[in-house]
Amino acid sequence: MSKQRLEGKVAIVTGGASGIGAEAVRVFVENGAFVVVADVQDELGHHLASSIGLLEKVSYRHCDIRDEKQVEETVAFAVEKYGSLDIMFSNAGIAGSISNILDLDLNDFDNAMAVNLRGAAACIKHAARVMVARRTRGSIICTGSVVASVGIGAAAGVSYTASKHGLIGLVRSACGELGRYGIRVNSVSPYVVATPLVCRALNVEASEVESAGGVGTSLRGIVLKPIHVAEAALFLASDESAYISGHDLTVDGGFLAVNRGIELSLASFKTK
Ligand SMILES: NC(=O)c1ccc[n+]([C@@H]2O[C@H](COP(=O)([O-])OP(=O)(O)OC[C@H]3O[C@@H](n4cnc5c(N)ncnc54)[C@H](O)[C@@H]3O)[C@@H](O)[C@H]2O)c1
Repeated sequence: MSKQRLEGKVAIVTGGASGIGAEAVRVFVENGAFVVVADVQDELGHHLASSIGLLEKVSYRHCDIRDEKQVEETVAFAVEKYGSLDIMFSNAGIAGSISNILDLDLNDFDNAMAVNLRGAAACIKHAARVMVARRTRGSIICTGSVVASVGIGAAAGVSYTASKHGLIGLVRSACGELGRYGIRVNSVSPYVVATPLVCRALNVEASEVESAGGVGTSLRGIVLKPIHVAEAALFLASDESAYISGHDLTVDGGFLAVNRGIELSLASFKTK
């Protein structure tokens, strides 16, 4: 291991069994952290924890973030097992049904809110409670999205877009409240990354997402991968970002800078 930017720190990564979360788990461990992988995909989570090969540094814990008690227990588990909680990467999320407002099923809306917004609120709340009580100058990071800042119409759907906008409000409010305890709260906001969430939602292969995914960004010659988002989360988790709080770090190849407010058409992807 060459770099140890999180030496001795303890982290929880929700949604850590797959995609961006799984990459963050690997990167955090490589950088010296102890990590609790919290997810609802138990087989995948256990497999990830054992495949990292540093079993004493990674634990898998079933945690459905819609259930506040499970979140509280997961936080308590991390503290009991590793002695503290320094980093909460509240990353779990669902795409939900991609629907526009005219066809909106409000049950789908509730589902997206329950995971992406209410679940994140539970993660921030219980991580912060432990950090405040233990006087830990912790770092809380949420995974937003480019659709946390703009509506891009049918490409992401109204429920997902609204939930991610809400998440930014949550981050900003928590940042204001928790700063006095030395706790930082930030978000990372990716553009389209080929993960199971996106492939399922758009019903496309990862290769199709990757070949079309750069549509709308200004950056050429590089395909956005989960590792790029994980590295951004690593920066926000580490002491290198010691005075950064309330920030939404976009990982979008310039998408928002160039296209703010412009509709990204689903036609960018060859849907089946
Ligand atoms: N992939 C993208 O293009 C993209 C873009 C912007 C933002 N995001 C966000 O990134 C985050 C990670 O998503 P991903 O793309 O890696 O997808 P993913 O499907 O690979 O990972 C999401 C993980 O969250 C877990 N999860 C879902 N509901 C849960 C719950 N109730 N409790 C606990 N865990 C739960 C899933 O089991 C899964 O392991 C999400 O918040 C997503 O909204 C993704």
